Amino acid sequence: MTALVAPDAGRWQSWSAMISDFDGPGEMHGSGEWNLSGPPVPGRDGCAAFVTMTERCSPADPAGTRVPSTYFWIAADDGATDDELVGFLHLRHELNDFLLAEGGHIGYAVRPSARRRGHATRALRLGLAEAAALGIAEVLVTCDDDNTASRRAIEKCGGVLEDVRDGKRRYWISTRA
Ligand SMILES: CC(C)(COP(=O)(O)OP(=O)(O)OC[C@H]1O[C@@H](n2cnc3c(N)ncnc32)[C@H](O)[C@@H]1OP(=O)(O)O)[C@@H](O)C(=O)NCCC(=O)NCCS
Repeated sequence: MTALVAPDAGRWQSWSAMISDFDGPGEMHGSGEWNLSGPPVPGRDGCAAFVTMTERCSPADPAGTRVPSTYFWIAADDGATDDELVGFLHLRHELNDFLLAEGGHIGYAVRPSARRRGHATRALRLGLAEAAALGIAEVLVTCDDDNTASRRAIEKCGGVLEDVRDGKRRYWISTRA
């Protein structure tokens, strides 16, 4: 089983272990870490800062550079408060030019030690359900052309390839099915 949960500073120990598992922030797609002034710092305070950042980023920003979005953490089982965190998922409610060309509606990552257990595929399905609940009928999900794992997850979730732009595969997934 896999669950999406809201970022919660009460889960800081599991969050810290997850952050430490990644080889730096470069692979932490969907985490929102790029909004921080530096790399996320594992620990109680670092987690609290991270959660504050995700809350601050959720509404659209007045300059219009950031669309409204929701950050989730991926939990390994049923999402209970003691459930291990295994990844990140970010659902953008709208597409701007960059997201339409490259980023898509949903970004995600699974911590290295929890990969190849189906978490990304199940989390993406759950993210699609969240998108459907927001009334998003067609969800754009993208991945690098050489990212076999992400590509397979997207295709298992019903992704239909539109094109490949600058090495990015762009898939649309209907949430109506
Ligand atoms: C991409 C990523 C999210 C996949 O997470 P995951 O939980 O391991 O994915 P799943 O277990 O759901 O596997 C999805 C499919 O990819 C396959 N797969 C997983 N890792 C693979 C790998 N390294 N090479 C080839 N296939 C792989 C799985 O076997 C599965 O296919 P199958 O069911 O047909 O066997 C994870 O590797 C990751 O976080 N990578 C770094 C960040 C990233 O690339 N995010 C996506 C941005 S678009």
